[in-house]
Amino acid sequence: MKVIVTKDKYAGGKATFDIFAEALKQGAKVLGLATGSTPLTFYQEVVTSSLDFSDVISINLDEYVGLAPDNPQSYHYFMQKHLFDAKPFKACYLPDGLTQDPATFCQQYDQLMLDHPIDVQLLGIGQNGHIAFNEPGTPFNLGTHEVQLTESTIKANARFFNEISEVPKTAICMGIKNIMAAKKIVLLAFGTEKAHAVKQLVEGTITEAIPATVLQRHHDVTVICDEAAAAELK
Ligand code: F6R
Repeated sequence: MKVIVTKDKYAGGKATFDIFAEALKQGAKVLGLATGSTPLTFYQEVVTSSLDFSDVISINLDEYVGLAPDNPQSYHYFMQKHLFDAKPFKACYLPDGLTQDPATFCQQYDQLMLDHPIDVQLLGIGQNGHIAFNEPGTPFNLGTHEVQLTESTIKANARFFNEISEVPKTAICMGIKNIMAAKKIVLLAFGTEKAHAVKQLVEGTITEAIPATVLQRHHDVTVICDEAAAAELK
């Protein structure tokens, strides 16, 4: 696992941009993308760049159950606003939060990733060590699935909603098996509140209790964190 420590989230966004730009230059055609506040400085770099995604497919990590794509709190809306409006892709896939048949949808999403293996997967990390919405205790061998969000994740994400009661309780997300199948993984973490999770991710014992620790088993992971998030590293 390679760790790059940057001064702040802006330098982190630039460092991430450089990795993705190089991967595209080398022929990457399928990008795994994330939402949340962490990738914003990266997406900002992308939208102001000359990079062209018209031949690239994106596959997002997750979506809340019950939110329509035009709901401003949905991850569809987030991606449209922060990336796809400015940078059209050949095709963009996100889990369908309104599916009436989550089990079949999850199988189809797994198949999508078998048909289009992810070249570079972007990740954030939760304070509790979650990646996508794979919460502590999630088996490492799960594919795409519907997940019950923990109280701590609901609290952390309440900042994007008017009230905590509006935060959906479930989501559909890629499993750890899908994430580990990506050829290259870039995980971003900014701010003091991520310092403990970053320490566990890089130096902790591999355990399902801290899902991100599984990344120690992947052969090509780069962690980009700012000085605050790196503060607990040895
Ligand atoms: C988002 C996602 C989540 C976030 C994580 C950190 O698609 O899968 O795992 O990466 O919750 O969120 P932020 O970046 O808002 O701190």
